[in-house]
Amino acid sequence: MFASMNRPIASLAGQRIWLIGASSGIGAALAEQALAAGAHVTLSARREAPLQALAARFDKAHVLAFDAVDLAAWPTAYAQLCAQMGEPDLLIFCAADYQPERVWDVRAARAEQMLKINLISVYCAIETVLPAMLARGRGGIGLIASVAGYMGLPNASVYGPSKAALINLAEILYSDLHPKGLDVYLINPGFVRTDLTAKNDFAMPALQTPQQAASAIWQGITDGAFEIHFPHRFTNTLKFLQLLPYRVRFALFERFLKIS
Ligand SMILES: NC(=O)c1ccc[n+]([C@@H]2O[C@H](COP(=O)([O-])OP(=O)(O)OC[C@H]3O[C@@H](n4cnc5c(N)ncnc54)[C@H](OP(=O)(O)O)[C@@H]3O)[C@@H](O)[C@H]2O)c1
Repeated sequence: MFASMNRPIASLAGQRIWLIGASSGIGAALAEQALAAGAHVTLSARREAPLQALAARFDKAHVLAFDAVDLAAWPTAYAQLCAQMGEPDLLIFCAADYQPERVWDVRAARAEQMLKINLISVYCAIETVLPAMLARGRGGIGLIASVAGYMGLPNASVYGPSKAALINLAEILYSDLHPKGLDVYLINPGFVRTDLTAKNDFAMPALQTPQQAASAIWQGITDGAFEIHFPHRFTNTLKFLQLLPYRVRFALFERFLKIS
């Protein structure tokens, strides 16, 4: 009952990892730490230049630039990945878009674009890697969701629902795939200083660096955790807020978030 929910990994050395969203921020820091630990890593995102710059520093890095919202691109990308590195032991989906906006500013066409990368592309990734992982009876899938998916938070009008969906999806993946020998990781970071959060004009409590975020994620994965959330002083506060009755939670938001 209290054993780790996933298989602990003794060392990242020799692991074959596919990181989607590796050109900046948390994904780039994850890639750098895994490569430094001796893993084979395929780096994916749309911008090839930052992927090439990172890959140039390591022997076991491969670059596979493509647009994850292009459904037709996935089979070709996966064939290329298998030819370069072999079937991945672990897929981590980091790619996402974010736009802070109040509900009255939301436009459906922009929402569709954000949901495509934040959610639909995740289904593409799962559909792509799962057959080989199921055939081998091993492999891992990590989804980077967010504490913004714990509950409805102001400003995250499209981003928040996309991340709530990923939390739900990771739970379903675990139920379906753990009995088949696969590992599933739900990663819920608090605030991390990246291009994504540079759009925020409000104070971000307990802000971390991408390197701190990547260390927490690799620690959680190698320990065999299911939900990896950090920093705990912030994420545990949100988990507590999530448990409160709606009338109390909304009253606290109005009082302390000073939203108008
Ligand atoms: N920063 C935070 O505070 C925070 C908190 C909680 C969760 N997260 C999550 O952490 C993950 C990483 O975010 P980050 O903060 O590191 O942001 P970031 O630096 O903006 O990284 C986003 C990555 O997604 C890639 N990407 C975006 N659209 C893509 C597409 N269509 N196809 C392929 N790749 C695409 C970007 O590369 P290209 O532009 O080159 O394609 C980039 O590598 C995201 O899932 C984010 O929601 C972040």
